[in-house]
Amino acid sequence: MRRHRLLLPLLVLAVASAASSVAARAPFACAPGGPATSLPFCRQSLPLRSRARDLVARLTRAEKVRLLVNNAAGVPRLGVAGYEWWSEALHGVSDTGPGVRFGGAFPGATAFPQVIGTAASFNASLWELIGRVRGKLPVTWYPQDYLQKAPMTNMAMRANPAKGYPGRTYRFYTGPTIHPFGHGLSYTKFTHTLAHAPAQLSVRLSGHHATTASSLNASTHLGRVAADVRVSHARCEGLSILVHVDVKNVGDRDGAHTVLVYASPPAAAVAAHSAPARQLVAFEKVHVTAGGVARVKMGLDVCHGLSVADRDGVRRIPVGEHSLTIGELTHSVTLGVEQLGV
Ligand SMILES: *[C@@H]1O[C@H](CO)[C@@H](O)[C@H](O)[C@H]1NC(C)=O
Ligand SMILES: *[C@@H]1O[C@H](CO)[C@@H](O)[C@H](O)[C@H]1NC(C)=O
Repeated sequence: MRRHRLLLPLLVLAVASAASSVAARAPFACAPGGPATSLPFCRQSLPLRSRARDLVARLTRAEKVRLLVNNAAGVPRLGVAGYEWWSEALHGVSDTGPGVRFGGAFPGATAFPQVIGTAASFNASLWELIGRVRGKLPVTWYPQDYLQKAPMTNMAMRANPAKGYPGRTYRFYTGPTIHPFGHGLSYTKFTHTLAHAPAQLSVRLSGHHATTASSLNASTHLGRVAADVRVSHARCEGLSILVHVDVKNVGDRDGAHTVLVYASPPAAAVAAHSAPARQLVAFEKVHVTAGGVARVKMGLDVCHGLSVADRDGVRRIPVGEHSLTIGELTHSVTLGVEQLGV
């Protein structure tokens, strides 16, 4: 019985895709002049489930086995064509790999992303639940030509425009994307309002660094002063920025949302250290009923999230105006230094 259940989606898929074929080949099972037009599985007035059951019942064990693999063999006596369903559209329909190429007998098809195992559950509420999962893309989805520009042998994060090297991850890569990092879909819509966040914060220096100005590193780059404090000289314990965000579900159905907080250091620090222009510093998932509001409270660790690594890998907290981006919101936090002794 288990095997039958697994076969059903495959057969439905094969029959459905076969229907879009053109004249050059033998007619498909249920097409006019096809070998199965009088059989129940071709009768459109019957429920899909009965049609699938009828078709499966007509298959021999050997035929079923040959249909279980991606290069499914055809069953000519029933007019079922062979089908290469490698491109199951989990990652979009692509023209790579052994899957279907459009053109010729298959000028096109409507492909729905499907997971064979999930389809085999025949559990509609499970599908509904999967559709409602509010995920965010945890990677950057690069266009195809990225592969040529970023060879496997070069793992440098920072972009090198002079050499055509695009950089890696959303923190350093600024070129076109198929889907950006953090991308996600939802059946509903959310808006953000800032309920609480400081506008400024002082970084305290630790131990003997507290009495010397040398911990504050001010360098001039392109006429701008980039000042920063080494993380190793800062008192990091408890140094965090509390951010409270109200998430409103402005759609007409319940949904879950992931609040992503990105921090951008002062522009001078980005220029001085080739630092990432933004980085994800906090995220929190929340379920909000339709029309409702939920408050999300997050603490951003300053030494970790608001510091940048210079080219030697030394982590520094840039002094000055940092900005936090949360969805459509932007908030500025100015970091200063306490107890400089100057
Ligand atoms: C179907 O999926 C739901 C989750 O949405 C689960 O709670 C339920 O037990 C599943 N039903 C069956 C028959 O497996
Ligand atoms: C200040 O920054 C410059 C450039 O990053 C570096 O060469 C220098 O060693 C730094 N000085 C201190 C005290 O950290």
